[in-house]
Amino acid sequence: MSAAEEIAALIRAIPDYPKPGIMFRDITTLLQDPRGLKLSVDGIAEAFKDDHIDLVAGIEARGFILGGAVAHELGKGFVAIRKKGKLPSVTLSQEYALEYGVDSVEVDVDACKPGQRVLVIDDLIATGGTAEASLGLVRRLGGVVVGAGFVVDLPELGGAQRLRDAGVNVQSLVT
Ligand code: PRP
Ligand code: ADE
Repeated sequence: MSAAEEIAALIRAIPDYPKPGIMFRDITTLLQDPRGLKLSVDGIAEAFKDDHIDLVAGIEARGFILGGAVAHELGKGFVAIRKKGKLPSVTLSQEYALEYGVDSVEVDVDACKPGQRVLVIDDLIATGGTAEASLGLVRRLGGVVVGAGFVVDLPELGGAQRLRDAGVNVQSLVT
């Protein structure tokens, strides 16, 4: 079995969550499996290891788990991109539409210095709204978006393609 097949086999599909008609791809089962977690973190880190990254940003919530591990593996610091109202200091905020609602992400205004090269990590890309808003925050801070890494791409929702069309290096481990 390839790494992608092993990872895919460890992801659980939950029908009608969080709303009717949504097939939720639940990676808790992947994270719980030691080999699944290692394949996921190593796979993302490997894809960006030569890209001269200064910081790894993870998107709340599951992007924290993967992004923190990728940052550790690459020997870089971690930036938290959080959902609205969670960061106690001065933040920038960006609203976005989800497959199932509206939300916003925030980052500390001093999370990166102008010109720093930032890799953005999340567990999954669907419509790309969350990732696009997060990349927007990094750019508003003056950071350079080196790429965006995900375990799962749901290509029928078009997010990864939209980011690629905009020139972003998007890497995912399974579709
Ligand atoms: C999921 C997933 C991504 C986002 C992808 O998070 O972890 O962050 O959706 O969707 P998009 O590409 O259509 O924007 P969710 O919004 O469910 O939030 P959570 O991490 O707080 O559970
Ligand atoms: N985020 C947006 N759509 C999703 C899905 N189908 N499964 C898991 N996370 C998601």
